[in-house]
Amino acid sequence: MDRLVSLENVSFGYDNQKIIKDLSFEIAEGEIVGVSGKNGSGKSTLLNIIGGLITDFQGMIQYGDNLGQIGCMIGGAPIYEDLSVKNNIEMIKRMDGTRNFRFDEALYDITDLKQYEKKRAGKLSLGNKQMLALLLSIGSKSKLLLLDEPFNGIDPIHKAALMKYLKQRAKSGTAVVMTSHIKGDLKFMCDRIIELSYGVDK
Ligand SMILES: Nc1ncnc2c1ncn2[C@@H]1O[C@H](COP(=O)(O)OP(=O)(O)OP(=O)(O)O)[C@@H](O)[C@H]1O
Ligand SMILES: [Mg+2]
Repeated sequence: MDRLVSLENVSFGYDNQKIIKDLSFEIAEGEIVGVSGKNGSGKSTLLNIIGGLITDFQGMIQYGDNLGQIGCMIGGAPIYEDLSVKNNIEMIKRMDGTRNFRFDEALYDITDLKQYEKKRAGKLSLGNKQMLALLLSIGSKSKLLLLDEPFNGIDPIHKAALMKYLKQRAKSGTAVVMTSHIKGDLKFMCDRIIELSYGVDK
């Protein structure tokens, strides 16, 4: 399996407090990597670093030549509240500079969101908003998905279906880095788990 990302001695902190301390690991195609740790331990920060949304870290990150765009859902459920569910997807399609966004209709079945296609996204229930945000980030052909607490608020049946879908994507080569507070979810989903500890000793 090809290596997609490699972190070498990555450190980062806000206001001179080191949150991410000297982290080194690699992410290969098809791997599902979990990131675990208490509130404030740096999970979202680490995903932002890997996704290129934080750049002023120390150390080095190397990206594989064939990585392409990264699918991100970090720090909440970003959706276009004023657009319909369908238009949210259309918007992401248009914004995909590589024209690689291929919305997989199967995702509509998995999430049961098709029935809300014409509904304004801001009026969806909490779990349905979360599923829409997830669809927007995993609907592209990205080889790497960074998913921050992807199943928050999603009921067990839809969660199981989405887990199955993501495992299937991993089998076909997509790498996933995901955070969760639910140990069982991480154990079920992930090939390995990175434990962050910022703030634990204080
Ligand atoms: N923009 C920011 N400016 C200053 N400090 C920040 C900023 N964003 C996060 N932090 C701090 O960095 C630390 C790590 O935050 P982060 O959001 O990565 O934690 P987390 O593990 O994702 O927590 P949670 O489980 O609550 O989502 C926290 O102490 C937080 O207060
Ligand atoms: Mg977080």
